[in-house]
Amino acid sequence: MTTADSLTTTLTSRMVQAIQAAGGWIGFDDFMSRALYTPGLGYYANDLRKLGLMPGSGSDFVTAPELSPLFGRALAVQVGQALAHTQTDEVWEFGAGSGALALQLLQALGEQVRRYTIVDLSGALRTRQQQTLQSFGERVQWVSELPATMQGVVVGNEVLDAMPVQLLARGDGVWYERGVALAGERFVWADRPTPLRPPVEIDGSYDYLTEIHPQAEAFMRTLAERLQRGAAFFIDYGFPEAEYYHPQRHMGTVMCHRGHRADADPLVEVGLKDITAHVNFTGMALAAQEAGLSVLGYSSQARFLLNCGLAQLMEQAELPLRAQAHKLVMEHEMGELFKVIGLCTGEPWYATGFSAGDRTHTL
Ligand SMILES: C[S@@+](CC[C@H](N)C(=O)[O-])C[C@H]1O[C@@H](n2cnc3c(N)ncnc32)[C@H](O)[C@@H]1O
Repeated sequence: MTTADSLTTTLTSRMVQAIQAAGGWIGFDDFMSRALYTPGLGYYANDLRKLGLMPGSGSDFVTAPELSPLFGRALAVQVGQALAHTQTDEVWEFGAGSGALALQLLQALGEQVRRYTIVDLSGALRTRQQQTLQSFGERVQWVSELPATMQGVVVGNEVLDAMPVQLLARGDGVWYERGVALAGERFVWADRPTPLRPPVEIDGSYDYLTEIHPQAEAFMRTLAERLQRGAAFFIDYGFPEAEYYHPQRHMGTVMCHRGHRADADPLVEVGLKDITAHVNFTGMALAAQEAGLSVLGYSSQARFLLNCGLAQLMEQAELPLRAQAHKLVMEHEMGELFKVIGLCTGEPWYATGFSAGDRTHTL
């Protein structure tokens, strides 16, 4: 048996026991949380390689900072401005992956960053981050939970999409919560009637599947409550709620990634695939605002990076680097599906990344 086989077999039998102990059914948020974070076994808790450029490396997906160092160089323009504007000198990164973005930001921002703190649930990735960031010594630190109060500029690339979601399914005009039950040792979908509803009425009565994001919203509220002075920038794939809960988007957005292939079945190969859902940026903005933050801006990744000077950085770069960076902004790659939301304590100020093409009005 390979390491991967034995890992998924052990995790599956643990999850089978959990479902039995819960009376035969668990919500998808519980399933996703166990599949991603069960200590030592879950996708983000095991030692298998996850992030990398090509499947040959044994990786499952590529992210913007892995694709091009120019991503971090451009984001650094915004982070630098936010540090100066808020008169802070700390950066906080959630879900730092291989440490690539931290490296890019620290190199670009130099002495402007007195301390760089990484908050990541994955012990295995923390080891990889420590190797990447060794040369920065004690300027970089790791914490497993947020302190009661914090100051500085927060960044998170593709971290909100990893937060467990609840599934809502409408069948014959009735809303159900879609969870997971057992058929022998196999996981199967099972629906239960629920009073839960999507935040937007879905016209019509045809069958519809979607997600709600209570965990990501709770995360945003906690962050907003604790951030005393500073700003936050989250980059991820997703939409404002009118688009998220559009009548035509009837299959939901849950996706899995393994070996640089995407599929829509999280119930198999548990622990070996990343499971994600798109982000409802309206929900993120509302949760942050309710807890006291202001929205600085919201735009496509392409627009944000170009506002931060990506085109000039590309002009100065060698051809292969330029070609990779193109993918960050091309509409059919990461440019349009990925969005950036900026938040701040106090009154909103003029932020470079949102200087043209701000879409806050669509939230
Ligand atoms: C898709 S990876 C993105 C990594 C990196 N930001 C990048 O762009 O390459 C998701 C990262 O978020 C971390 N993560 C997932 N949920 C988290 C949470 N609730 N808090 C902090 N980190 C989390 C994972 O361990 C992983 O490092």
